[in-house]
Parts: sequence; C-alpha cells; structure tokens
Amino acid sequence: MKHTKIKALLESSEVGEKVIVKGWVRAFRSNRFIQINDGSTINNIQAVIEYENFDEAILKKISTAAAVEVRGTLVASQGKGQAVEVSVEEVEILGEANPDDVQKTVMQPKKHKLEFLREQAHLRFRTNTFGAVFRIRHGLTFAIHKFFNDKGFYNLHTPILTSSDAEGAGEMFRVTNFDLNNVPKTEDGKVDFSQDFFDKPVNLTVSGQLEAELGALALGQVYTFGPTFRAENSNTSRHLAEFWMIEPEVAFNDLKDNMDLTEEFLKYLSNYVLENYVDDVKFLNDRDAQEQKSKPEKDRNPLTLIERLEFVANNEFKRITYTEAIQILRNSKPFKKKKFKFDVEWGVDLHSEHERYLVEKEFKCPVIITDYPATIKAFYMRQNDDDKTVAAMDVLFPGIGEIVGGSQREERLDVLKKKCADFDIHEDELYWYLDTRRFGTVPHAGFGLGFERMVMFATGMTNIRDVIPFPRTPGNAEF
Ligand code: 4AD
Ligand code: MG
Repeated sequence: MKHTKIKALLESSEVGEKVIVKGWVRAFRSNRFIQINDGSTINNIQAVIEYENFDEAILKKISTAAAVEVRGTLVASQGKGQAVEVSVEEVEILGEANPDDVQKTVMQPKKHKLEFLREQAHLRFRTNTFGAVFRIRHGLTFAIHKFFNDKGFYNLHTPILTSSDAEGAGEMFRVTNFDLNNVPKTEDGKVDFSQDFFDKPVNLTVSGQLEAELGALALGQVYTFGPTFRAENSNTSRHLAEFWMIEPEVAFNDLKDNMDLTEEFLKYLSNYVLENYVDDVKFLNDRDAQEQKSKPEKDRNPLTLIERLEFVANNEFKRITYTEAIQILRNSKPFKKKKFKFDVEWGVDLHSEHERYLVEKEFKCPVIITDYPATIKAFYMRQNDDDKTVAAMDVLFPGIGEIVGGSQREERLDVLKKKCADFDIHEDELYWYLDTRRFGTVPHAGFGLGFERMVMFATGMTNIRDVIPFPRTPGNAEF
C-alpha cells in the first residue's frame, strides 16, 4: 500500500486497490463522508467511513482543515459527482484543527470576499480559488521555460541588485547596509555612498533587460525570468511593487520579428493553460461567470474566461501605430463627448481609459501599438527615420491593459550616445552597455511580459494581488 496523490486516484480505474490518502479535510458530512484535498487537483476525493466502527473521539477530530491519513479500498462511488471513492478502513489524524478557530478563517467552506482572503493570504492557499490560481501560475512558469527552451533560448539570470535604472523612471528601491540613523556624509553634506557596501548607490532592479542584451549579443537568444521591483506609488489593481517579469532578447530581430515572437508566445501560453489545466480553468470560468453577473450590464465581458483564452489562442492580434491609435481615439465617441478624463493628443502617453477603448470597444481583440513618440519611451529604443518616434511596441489585452512592453533596441553607437545625452544618462555609468555597440553591434529586439498580468488573464482574477502568493503594494509587506 502506498501513498497516492488524489489527482492520480481520481483518474485511476484500479477499483479494488488498497490505497493511502493524505490531505486536509474540506468537509465532513453526516459523520460519514469526508471530502479530502491534497492540492494535487482542485477535486476532492470522497472517503466514506462506517462511523459505527470508529471511536467517537476520532470522529470529532475529523473536521474542516484538519490533516488526515486514511487507508482503505478504492471503490466505484455509489453517489453522484465522482467515479471513485475510498472505503475507509483506518483513519489517522495527522494534525488537528479546532473548529471554533477554523470558523474565523477563510478555510471555513463558504464564499469569502477577496479582501478577507487577502488578509489571510497565509491560509488562502487552502481555498479552491487560490489552489486553482497557484496551480495555473506554476503551469505558466513551466510553459514559459518550455516555450523558450524548445526554441533554443538560454535562460539568463540577471542581477537583482544593480546600480542602473534601466527604465529611467526613477522608481527604485534603494539597497544599503548603512545604519540609517547614522549615515556617512560627504563634506558638502550629501550621503557618502563611497562608504556603502558596494561603494556606490545600489537599488533593486526594475528590469533585467540591459544585462539580457549583453547576453543576447553573444548567446543569440536569451530570456530572463526574475523578480523586478518598482516603487511606483500607484495603488491600482494592476500594479505591484514586487512582480515577476519575463524578458526575451534576440540578436538580429527587428520590431516585426519581435511582434511575431510576442504573439506566438502569448498564444502558446493561453493554449497551454487550456490544455493542461482543464479542471482549474473550468472552476475559474464558472467563478468568473458569477462575478460577471454581479456587474452592471455595460461592464460585463461578453466572453467567458475559456472563450477569452481561446480567442487569444486563435485570433490574430491587431497591429497599429501610436499615430493611428491617436487618430482613432480622437475620432471616437467618448473623445467627442469629452468622456475621457485625460487628453488625447499626439505626443502624450496613452492612459488605461484609452487603451481599454481601443482593445475592448474599437477592436475587441488584443492590440499591438507600435512606434511611440521618443519622448515618452525609454532611452534604449531604436530611433525611427522620422526622428520623432521609436521602434517600441506595447501589447494590450482585454480586461488587463498593457501586458507586454518591448522594442527594437538602438544598436548605432552614435545615436545611442546622443540618446544618453538627451536623457541625462552619464556614459561612464553605462560604458558596459555601450561596449556592445562598439564590438560587432547588430540589430536586436526584445520585450517584457508582466508575469502577474498574464496570470490575471489566464485565471480571470481582476486584482493583481490575487495572482501572487504574497503581494507587495504600498503600505503592505505582510507575511
Ligand atoms: O513596459 P515595461 O516597463 O518594460 C520593461 O521593463 C522593458 N525593460 C521590457 C523589455 O523590453 N525587456 O514593463 C514590462 C511589463 C509591462 O508591460 C507590464 O505587464 C509589467 O511589466 N509591469 C508590471 N506588472 C506589475 N506591476 C507593475 N508595477 C508593473 N510594471 C510593469
Ligand atoms: Mg511599459
């Protein structure tokens, strides 16, 4: 007799086998039916006991959230809802859970508000919703590595501690081992970083891209998959202070190749989840359908979660330039009726209301916007011949907004140096980056996928705090 995971048991037809099941009690009904879950699947196995044969003291301890081990025989189920169940011969309580205490937690089997679940992020793993979300999060992680490995990319670990600000947005968390109550100062009263651990100011990385470029210009095609940190004080449902990003970088690729790779990648991930996480996706699909019903008609998504994933997997993304996007927006009803909060004019950055209009109202499909004004994008993006725009691309998804940001990189040393000057970036700080443009520079391109935004899309969860185990947001670093 050996311990078997519930997923394997439920798929097994070995009726008559002796089995051992270990897991946590989800419910115990009529002193007879124990629903056990062990995390291997969203589905519980039903263990049926003849309570007449068991000690009253043991029966009492079989309660929601307790850990149990049952031994018995796998039999065809008499009841509805499952093909097989375990006819129990022995029960062992591995870890008790006091029912009065359990009642105060998210483990109590009933519908809880997501806010309450977030307060108990350490226990929310025990719920169906979060079990499904985190299994799919894992599935996506695996699929990402598989996608790139199958294409001959190399995974590159870029530094988490860095002195550069790749995105130039200045939204960085400083890392120091100074005694903050006694910080060394220079003669003119400024902080003396030459006495700090790294002899200079260092921060948590906002992106591994610049280092990934160095790798790509030797290994050909690389990708990073690591944590990134942004101290942007935007307390929205789409921003985290600590999030994970996937950044592929490919030598000899131009903007079109970059778009093709992104589109193939996002289609692959959507398909992978549909094919490999059927039960979890089905559960989240129903959950999403319930959510949609509670919204006002105009805010409802006409497609179910499964339909949204299928849609991305099977339909071409719409590709337009920033200039075209501005024209479409300025000709739109909400613009003419002054319904947009932020102005729409060539040169300004698009806000989420504009992105949502394009994706959800105008095109009703994922949209790739390219060739943004140079002034609103990062210094490393390749200058277009018009001298006004750069070879940038943002991928916008329905319900999510920006999911990917990327570009072809500026490979011409003189142009890049000028960009550094324009952006007030000191060349001596980036000599290592500029060196790649000195020694065999070639066109190359890459992008960054916000991992949590992809998990949101794949699970239908609408708050980014609900797709990462322990979210970090302004004012919140619990657990
Ligand atoms: O558009 P971003 O800032 O691009 C970069 O960092 C580039 N270096 C990528 C590259 O070309 N290699 O960020 C990329 C993606 C965004 O599209 C978004 O999905 C996600 O990262 N993202 C965030 N996700 C959660 N919380 C935040 N605060 C995020 N900021 C960006
Ligand atoms: Mg971006």
